[in-house]
Amino acid sequence: MTGNLDTKVYKIENCHGPLSEEDKVKIAECGEIIRNGGLVAFPTETVYGLGGDALNSLSSGRIYAAKGRPSDNPLIVHICSMDDLGRITEDIPEEALILAKKFWPGPLTMILKKSDAVPLKTTGGLETVAVRMPDNPVALEFIKASGGYIAAPSANISGKPSPTTAGYVLEDMNGRIDALIDGGENDIGLESTIIDLAGDKIQVLRPGFITNEILSDALGIKVETDPALLDPNCKERPKAPGMRYRHYAPEGEVIPVRGEPDRVFAHISEGLVKAAAKGIKTGVLCCLENASKYDADVIRHAGALDDAESAAHIFYTALRDMDDENVEVIYVENFTDRGVGEALWNRLLKSAGSKWEEV
Ligand code: TXA
Ligand code: MG
Repeated sequence: MTGNLDTKVYKIENCHGPLSEEDKVKIAECGEIIRNGGLVAFPTETVYGLGGDALNSLSSGRIYAAKGRPSDNPLIVHICSMDDLGRITEDIPEEALILAKKFWPGPLTMILKKSDAVPLKTTGGLETVAVRMPDNPVALEFIKASGGYIAAPSANISGKPSPTTAGYVLEDMNGRIDALIDGGENDIGLESTIIDLAGDKIQVLRPGFITNEILSDALGIKVETDPALLDPNCKERPKAPGMRYRHYAPEGEVIPVRGEPDRVFAHISEGLVKAAAKGIKTGVLCCLENASKYDADVIRHAGALDDAESAAHIFYTALRDMDDENVEVIYVENFTDRGVGEALWNRLLKSAGSKWEEV
């Protein structure tokens, strides 16, 4: 499609299901767009996806172009039924079946050996394919209506924070894609956990809502994160190509501050005073307890300090809000590293270009 046409928005009334007949008609129209090689953004339980037909290399090419993404960074293929897994993968290991049974539909992406049905364009030239079944009634209906296989990265311009509302998708994608299914705000707000089941070692390539602990319990083995993610100075490159780039970044400079809570508060307060003295527009993303104590131009708070889930939920929205307000320096408190906290810290470091201040 050409860049000067507006993207058509389909608003879903009962986005948490059950879907109404009108909703289903809208979704069927969007499925038709995909079957004809077009692009449609859609909600999932994690973030909005930018969908195209995963089995059509031209569609995948269009996805990379719309996002401005390097085409060696592969796409996740979204399915809506276990019956569809066999067509796109080969040698499915036992562990994949265990995880699928337990966590699909849900925020878990598995890397498996790909079949010939999946074009190399979709997998960025790799012989493996990333697959997930999202836990969202609109997404599942849309995948079905589209023929069963939707390739979808997050629906942001490459490098920007992932969109968690339809409004943010439009901000980046209006005129670049054919349609958008508006299914309200995403539940989780951070991208799925990615687990590699095709390599020498079962490993998490991107942390997410489903933690290593939960995965270890399910498989009865110790599942660890790709070491390249934990140490920004590690010589090895992250195994998920997308984890190699600066990512999830707003226009302003992000400064994560980690340490004991009182010291974090003091350090950020001091940084804010210095920035304000230079006339720099400041922002803070912090826990609820501290929100009224900081003196910054824009303050966004998540939940309590030990509530990583609500921090994860608000994180990308807060970064995009900061951009809307032209904030130049954004201080971010560290939240707990328990649960989804590991994933949040990983995204936070990426958005900051892998640097933080330790106090
Ligand atoms: O929650 C999510 O996963 C969202 C929603 C839309 O489903 N999607 C998403 O896609 O985050 P994207 O493209 O933004 O991130 C996909 C990540 C990238 O880091 C990519 O490099 C990695 O998955 N990936 C995809 N296929 C891979 C493969 N075969 N091997 C290793 N990494 C792969
Ligand atoms: Mg992304």
